[in-house]
Amino acid sequence: MSNKTNQQWGGRFNEPTDAFVARFTASVEFDQRMYRQDIQGSVAHATMLTEAGVLTEEERDAIIQGLSEIQQDIEAGRFEWSIALEDVHMNIEAALTAKIGITGKKLHTGRSRNDQVATDIRLYVRDEIDLILSEITRLQEGLLMLAEQEADTIMPGFTHLQTAQPVTFGHHLLAWFEMLSRDYERFVDTRKRVNIMPLGAAALAGTTYPIQREITCKLLGFDAPAENSLDAVSDRDFAIEFCAASSVLMMHMTRMSEELVLWTSAQFNFINLPDRFCTGSSIMPQKKNPDVPELVRGKSGRVYGHLMSLLTLMKSQPLAYNKDNQEDKEPLFDAIDTVKGCLRAFADMVPALESRKENMREAALRGFSTATDLADYLVRKGMPFRDAHEVVGKSVAYGIESGKDLGEMSLEELQQFSDTIGADVFEVLTLEGSVSARNHIGGTAPSQVRAAVARGKSRLQQRV
Ligand code: ARG
Repeated sequence: MSNKTNQQWGGRFNEPTDAFVARFTASVEFDQRMYRQDIQGSVAHATMLTEAGVLTEEERDAIIQGLSEIQQDIEAGRFEWSIALEDVHMNIEAALTAKIGITGKKLHTGRSRNDQVATDIRLYVRDEIDLILSEITRLQEGLLMLAEQEADTIMPGFTHLQTAQPVTFGHHLLAWFEMLSRDYERFVDTRKRVNIMPLGAAALAGTTYPIQREITCKLLGFDAPAENSLDAVSDRDFAIEFCAASSVLMMHMTRMSEELVLWTSAQFNFINLPDRFCTGSSIMPQKKNPDVPELVRGKSGRVYGHLMSLLTLMKSQPLAYNKDNQEDKEPLFDAIDTVKGCLRAFADMVPALESRKENMREAALRGFSTATDLADYLVRKGMPFRDAHEVVGKSVAYGIESGKDLGEMSLEELQQFSDTIGADVFEVLTLEGSVSARNHIGGTAPSQVRAAVARGKSRLQQRV
């Protein structure tokens, strides 16, 4: 690769860039992935310059034709990226000039790489947010389908990871659905601040050409041109915000992962993940490992790290553009790739999980999960809650000693602790009685799960 003094800015330089410095300062190895957005931005810019009378129609057409050929070359793997040309912007511009001659050199009129790169990243992140949104929706559709199937499946609900009260598995899955709904909204909200156009800010102060930013704004599908040129070229808060929304989403996926890992263990044995989402061990022939949820759990670290990198990158930067900002791309791109990969794996895997209903039920039957129901029963019969708590506590102590759950004790055994207890107590001590009694919006009753699934479906429909 040649390392002659750079064609695009070499005018005032007396010696070529040091070979290591050229590599050290180049970004083309990682920013070339924005080639489509870069070309899209250039096409819009050239179109606007023609409307503004800066370029002729012939020049515009040559530029657009040249850029479209370059795009084809890149996509066919024919394009030769050069480190000496630093970044995606100068590589494409140099290729354009090589293709169409002197007109190629006019494209950069009224523009700087500073507003160009800020525009490219925003277009890129906007496109990726749209993909992420549709993957979140796909995962949520899977959860609704599964929750509907599992509306009547009873499992232990936990607090402190100790058996607390019976819940329906459908209800548990709908908790995940709600977490993801908020993640979806966070990305929608982030997108509003991403979709603002820096183009026209030029290097930092705007340009002396009669540009019409409304035209490029409309052509590129931005909501509005950025109000202030200094801010437009410098701030990467939108990338930070994207990583923040991604971090919260990843955090939610680690919570789901953790439960999936626990539930597939022999100790819980609540679910089975199809073999295609698991791997084995090279030494222990019996092993089937839940690699996908484990990896998702682990990958959260990268995304949190990228959020911290970008916050630190931006911290204390004086206005306007600084080269520091070139460091925004690798964390941002890796956060995007990680989030998309995790969502894809989950959207494929979660709806395919098989519940082991009998084991869930068995687990709910152990651990005195209907103790609160017994206390509520006594309260309904007129006993103050604190006294009821005491009665049930003693019954549980007896149960631990005698190895019986509350529902397995005889009426006489239960009546040792309070004569308020009558034969109707067994209606509340059953798992079905316990879950179906929690029959209000947000409660675990099967009928509420079905109603929540229906509302969930119409919420998803409103997205499109
Ligand atoms: N590759 C640079 C970046 O990613 C493009 C902008 C460079 N601007 C400059 N004045 N050197 O930020």
